[in-house]
Amino acid sequence: KCVMGHTRSFVKCGKSGYVMPGAFKNHAQAIYNMEVRPDDIWVITFPRSGTTWTQEMIWLLKNHLNFNASKETPLYDRFPMLEITSMIPDIACELIKTNFMNLANFQGLSDAVKTPSWKRIDETPSPRFIKTHLPLSMLPPNLLSTAKVVYVARDPRDVAVSYYYLHKMIAKSLMRANFNHYWEAFKRDLLPWTPIIAHTNEAWKQRHHPNLHLVFYEDLIKDLPKEIGRISHFLGKNYSDDKIKQLAEYLSFNSLRKNENVNNTTGNGKNEIQFIRKGEAGGWKSHFDQEMVLEAEEFLISRLEGLDLVYPSFR
Ligand code: A3P
Repeated sequence: KCVMGHTRSFVKCGKSGYVMPGAFKNHAQAIYNMEVRPDDIWVITFPRSGTTWTQEMIWLLKNHLNFNASKETPLYDRFPMLEITSMIPDIACELIKTNFMNLANFQGLSDAVKTPSWKRIDETPSPRFIKTHLPLSMLPPNLLSTAKVVYVARDPRDVAVSYYYLHKMIAKSLMRANFNHYWEAFKRDLLPWTPIIAHTNEAWKQRHHPNLHLVFYEDLIKDLPKEIGRISHFLGKNYSDDKIKQLAEYLSFNSLRKNENVNNTTGNGKNEIQFIRKGEAGGWKSHFDQEMVLEAEEFLISRLEGLDLVYPSFR
């Protein structure tokens, strides 16, 4: 169920009041009732948690490490996003208002919107690879009992910094806010897909489910081959250490950043901000002043109260 959010462009959905662009309400029901297939692989994340990185890893693990095939098609086509088209009209309106996008572009986009991405995914032959930022409670209730799901979680402070740069990349002219203001909006659950901790906690509660594998971005950074091995095992694949090492090298930050099929940097003219941007755990520290550090700690403590969710930075 979605109700009007903090501005006309947003709705709040589900028990935790997840913020979604307004047009999403026309698709929420269809997505919730979508048919899940036993050979589906879903990657679920809060935005900027390492989704793209994990998608490319999973696609290759499931496709015999066929690096050539991965180069033939952009990742967003091999591993499409479930709810993307339901967001385009609202985001486009904002962009047009600020003259960032002209009406001709909008016409192209509105044509794309005619077939929502969930519908295209629904018509895609198996095996399907599906990316979504929707929390488990907004997805089909039989998802976990039917298909395999990988959830990637990340320290909310790093997510906020990364999200800020993503928004700057997509819509520079809209981003008059500095990071301090942006962080306020993040904390107050005003940005799409927030609240982040409720989102992650839904997956955390299911972390022992045999069809869900939860991985932290920080652990991918710490020991990528180890986490690739665990995800490979979860997917029922058995690669030699050498093959896993080869995949880890391919997925390294510098290598993936150069890969135009994966580093989907569009929409900001000179592209001085990249989609695959910094690739660090704990990089948030250089964006928070002393006061913000304390506030962020308070925010995390209060939101985590009563939950057993533990982020790696608090282990
Ligand atoms: P930063 O902005 O902090 O660098 P998503 O795909 O969910 O949008 O996540 C994007 C974040 O994952 C970005 O974080 C991006 O740089 C990081 N990322 C992508 N590929 C990576 C890699 N190979 N190694 C480390 N971080 C990576």
